[in-house]
Amino acid sequence: MGVSSTAPHLLRAARGEIVDRPPVWMMRQAGRYMKAYRDLREKYPSFRDRSEIPEVAIEVSLQPWKAFQPDGVILFSDIVTPLPGLGIDMDIAEGKGPIIHSPIRTQAQIDSLHDLDPEAALPFIKTILQALRQEVGNKSTVLGFVGAPWTLAAYAVEGKGSKTYSIIKNLAFSDPAILHQLLTKLADAIATYARYQIDCGAQVVQMFDSWAGQLSPQDYDTFALPYQRRVFQQVKQTHPDTPLILLVSGSAGVLERMAQSGADIVTVDWTVDMADARARLGKHVKVQGNLDPGVLYASKEFIRDRIYDTVRKAGNWGHILNLGHGVLPDTPEENVAFFFETAKQLSTAALVS
Ligand code: CP3
Repeated sequence: MGVSSTAPHLLRAARGEIVDRPPVWMMRQAGRYMKAYRDLREKYPSFRDRSEIPEVAIEVSLQPWKAFQPDGVILFSDIVTPLPGLGIDMDIAEGKGPIIHSPIRTQAQIDSLHDLDPEAALPFIKTILQALRQEVGNKSTVLGFVGAPWTLAAYAVEGKGSKTYSIIKNLAFSDPAILHQLLTKLADAIATYARYQIDCGAQVVQMFDSWAGQLSPQDYDTFALPYQRRVFQQVKQTHPDTPLILLVSGSAGVLERMAQSGADIVTVDWTVDMADARARLGKHVKVQGNLDPGVLYASKEFIRDRIYDTVRKAGNWGHILNLGHGVLPDTPEENVAFFFETAKQLSTAALVS
């Protein structure tokens, strides 16, 4: 465990220390809006190659670090990366996202899933995370990430992304016992995977329950929240000092519920005013967010005003500055650079009275 004086900025803020400005990183900061990434994608057209060949994944993870020096460097990977390790084969299709060739819909398929052995199934993760820690030292914080049970179940059952989530909702509402078994198995595998990432060097872990915002609050309480808790509890048992972040897309209706998951930090998206989020969550809950990624299409003045506004509303404690979701693929790189420069120069004390 790092002594606080040498621990990097984001890790200190995530642990609840008062810092002079909010640490800043971006979701999807490695990706298509960067020319360096697009060039490398030509050489390695398969997403699985880009994320599973250690040298390539290390290079991609470090592209935004080299360009912008964010306070957080996130592992380049995907939420579906551990699924083959449970016996769920997958691919990631250009422009489409994850594809599961044999979607999981029957009891027999659920029974045939195996426990995750990360050392055997995901050896590249160790090489990548160790290299990232080595490279950034105490100048930045290395983040690992996992998908949450509901969101990974949505991919496993639907077989791909969905607008309506018809198949998994049909299963949830007409045969819930089967889905609960799948969610339980996924939760245990995800906890194992998160622990492994921490053992390999991840200093903070973010869990993406991207599609849990598609659930009504009562169904969130049944199918998402208990499994988020199951993951976070297992991770906290062995790794109590690693800060855990939760993200749900379109979370305005379940924000208070997110704080009941056991996450240390709740990601807020731009459909909620940051001051309202603080009021709703109470002063002991740390937050991350929450600029609209579309703000990065605008002028520098506009971007700066929105950063200052967000920092003022978040106050001087427990805030990680970020977008409310991933950076959009056609965002100008110079605006991303401006976002980071502006964020790293500001002083919370000068903005918050
Ligand atoms: O944040 C980062 O920089 C780390 C990299 C990262 C990726 N996926 C790389 C990626 C992270 C954290 C993810 C998580 C992920 N993957 C989520 C949760 C975040 C969210 O968006 O809510 C989800 C839902 C997925 C599933 C997934 N993978 C989707 C929907 C897509 C996009 C399809 C598309 O092309 O628009 C992917 C593919 C993917 N994963 C890309 C990237 C950079 C885009 C494909 C590419 O650039 O080659």
